[in-house]
Amino acid sequence: MAEKKMIIDGVSCPFTTERNVLEVARNNGIDIPSLCYCENLSIYGGCRLCLVENDRGRMDAACSMQPRDGMVVNTHTKQVLDSRRTTLQLLMSSHRADCLTCDQSGRCKLQEYARRYHVDEHRFEPNTYCTEPMDLSSPSIVRDPSKCILCGLCVRTCAEIQNIGAVDFSGRGKKAHISADFGKTLKDTDCVGCGQCASVCPTGASYVSDSGIVEVDQGRCIGCKYCMAACPYQARITNSEGAAEKCRFCTISATNNGTPMCSCVEACPTGARVFGDLDDPSSELVRRIAETGAKPIAGDLTKAKIFYAR
Ligand code: FES
Repeated sequence: MAEKKMIIDGVSCPFTTERNVLEVARNNGIDIPSLCYCENLSIYGGCRLCLVENDRGRMDAACSMQPRDGMVVNTHTKQVLDSRRTTLQLLMSSHRADCLTCDQSGRCKLQEYARRYHVDEHRFEPNTYCTEPMDLSSPSIVRDPSKCILCGLCVRTCAEIQNIGAVDFSGRGKKAHISADFGKTLKDTDCVGCGQCASVCPTGASYVSDSGIVEVDQGRCIGCKYCMAACPYQARITNSEGAAEKCRFCTISATNNGTPMCSCVEACPTGARVFGDLDDPSSELVRRIAETGAKPIAGDLTKAKIFYAR
């Protein structure tokens, strides 16, 4: 396909098949903040954090804008920066910001952007819409609606990647929230605890509870301890017994192409399978159900496989 070019922040950016301006910018090393976009999912365009300004002063969401040859956009004008700050202030007003004790602190994208754009005061009255309690019913996933910013990534991941649809939007306006099927708790839905919703959640609204499992193929392990250095929870991952106590299944450390990947798996230089048998998630799920009950696993779980596993 013929290469086209657009101008972003005065820089000529070639593109071919990118589906939106956001991807063109990122492929050319220009960072545009986003909270509701994932390259593997359908486009929602709800967070409005990726707004950019065109050469006529009009602002639009970069994730929802098709790139055109000769197009000119700017990502750091005063209008864009003011808009980003206001958007973040609005998001913060409906997000319970107990960052000191939050499971996601240090990895929360909202926290990162609030720091980057100096959003440190509450400009808007806190929105107290969220009276939904935490959902602790699942053996592997914790849902905390008070941290949810309605980006919908968990909804689209569960439906479009996992083919399950255990969670969805519910309510309207100020009462909009993400809920499990028909207001049930997660354990009463088709959720299999795969952890993919937690891997894409940009805040602490969905996270994996303290019950993961890490395994080591001792035949391939050379004892370099790179895995331990990479693990954000200091799980003793060269010791499979101790690991289970601390491992949090940190698939939040997604690789650049958006594929969830555990930090220790990424760090391992020898390919020792520290996170179960990633080549065959269905057999791993069967083993876990048989030995320990359902646990989160990484990989491409299809509903057919899950049905088979049951
Ligand atoms: Fe574009 Fe959310 S990333 S609107």
